[in-house]
Amino acid sequence: MGAGMKKKPLHPSTQAAAVITGAGSGIGRSFAYEVARRGGSVLCVDINEERAEQVAISLRALGTHAVALGCDVGDEKQMAYLAENAEPLLGRPVTLVINNAGVGLGGPIGEVSLEDWHWCMNVNLWGVIHGCHYFAPQLRDLGYGGIINVASAAAFGSAPEMAAYNVTKAGVLALSETLSSELTGTGVKITALCPTVVPTNIVENGRLPERRRDFARSAMTRYALTNADQVARQTLSALDRGELYMLPQIDGRLAWRLKRLTPRLYARAIGEAYRMLAD
Ligand SMILES: NC(=O)c1ccc[n+]([C@@H]2O[C@H](COP(=O)([O-])OP(=O)(O)OC[C@H]3O[C@@H](n4cnc5c(N)ncnc54)[C@H](O)[C@@H]3O)[C@@H](O)[C@H]2O)c1
Repeated sequence: MGAGMKKKPLHPSTQAAAVITGAGSGIGRSFAYEVARRGGSVLCVDINEERAEQVAISLRALGTHAVALGCDVGDEKQMAYLAENAEPLLGRPVTLVINNAGVGLGGPIGEVSLEDWHWCMNVNLWGVIHGCHYFAPQLRDLGYGGIINVASAAAFGSAPEMAAYNVTKAGVLALSETLSSELTGTGVKITALCPTVVPTNIVENGRLPERRRDFARSAMTRYALTNADQVARQTLSALDRGELYMLPQIDGRLAWRLKRLTPRLYARAIGEAYRMLAD
């Protein structure tokens, strides 16, 4: 146990000093409330500072120590600033980092602009790389805590017309697996969250071809087998149990198994299913 931490709670999700990116909406906001419910303090980080501040205000009204910071996770300098200032803002060393901020991008390969590819890579992949780069050493020095990286079932699902998103999430999963092996024996746990559909504002906040927006919006309600609050609760408990992979929904777990069992059949099936549902 490093300096600055007197008493170690039993689990990293309990009484955490948490940095949560993308905390202004959806799954990130649910993580913020759940960490608070477990007695923790929260630094709500979002590119939309106003939304992060709203979450922090409502947490403070519940008696939680919560502060907000506007920060673009894709920006190296802003993330370095976050890493330097998280401890003073939280009032104690960071024990939990949830790299959750992410954006949706859809469209066929060749049609999606390279500018949009860079945008998606910057937020979804570089954002998580920055979070791990700057915070993993702090947690390792502390010898205690947890990191949750929000990937997606897209990391292995490879659904059509989501190439950039799929690539970023596969990268997040590989990063999490590598970090898990590096953190073995350090007292720091790591979980990679891989949900399928969770109703949030990801479609409204994302970039999709107009012809796919209605399908994406209706998928949010029609195919969602869970909600953001449940996902946050289950994932924090998975972190406490030291589980690297968190697949909260049955459709995600089936896709994961089918792809391992018969990858070619899986690729054909996902292509056919997409054409049937989206066209
Ligand atoms: N909703 C789903 O179906 C689903 C499924 C699998 C994985 N995910 C992942 O869950 C995470 C959270 O997404 P969500 O569904 O809650 O979406 P959301 O749009 O409701 O929330 C995302 C939040 O991230 C913030 N954000 C965007 N770019 C940022 C940046 N550069 N820096 C800091 N903050 C930024 C947004 O302002 C927003 O508050 C994402 O990583 C997403 O890829 C979502």
